[in-house]
Amino acid sequence: MITLCSVDDIEEGTSKGLEVENKYLFAVKKDDQLFLYYNYCPHLGTPLEWLEDQFLDADGALIQCSTHGALFLIENGTCILGPCKGKRLKAIPFVLGNGFMMVDEDDVRKLGRI
Ligand code: FES
Repeated sequence: MITLCSVDDIEEGTSKGLEVENKYLFAVKKDDQLFLYYNYCPHLGTPLEWLEDQFLDADGALIQCSTHGALFLIENGTCILGPCKGKRLKAIPFVLGNGFMMVDEDDVRKLGRI
C-alpha cells in the first residue's frame, strides 16, 4: 500500500491533485465522502484541472475538464455533458486507515490509456 495523503488534506467540497508512481490522480471530498480518480480525461487523455488542485466546476457540484469543459458526476465519474458524454473517469480503489488515504501500488502501476 502507498499512502497518498491525510484525509484532512482535502477540504470538504474541494479537490486535490495527487502524484504517485509518476501517475496523476485526484481526490474529491463531497458530503464527507472521498472519491479518487485517474487524472485523465476520457475524451483526449488530457489532465483535467484548471489550476493546481482545481478539478471542480464553479459551484463545486461536478468535476469539469479544463480542455473542452466536459462535466462528470463526482460520485461515479460519469460524463454527463461534453464530447465524452457517457464515458467515465477511471475510479481508483483506495482504503482509509489512521486518517490516511492509501492505494495499492498495483492498481496505480497498471494505469495507462483508458
Ligand atoms: S479533453 Fe476533456 S473534454 Fe476534451
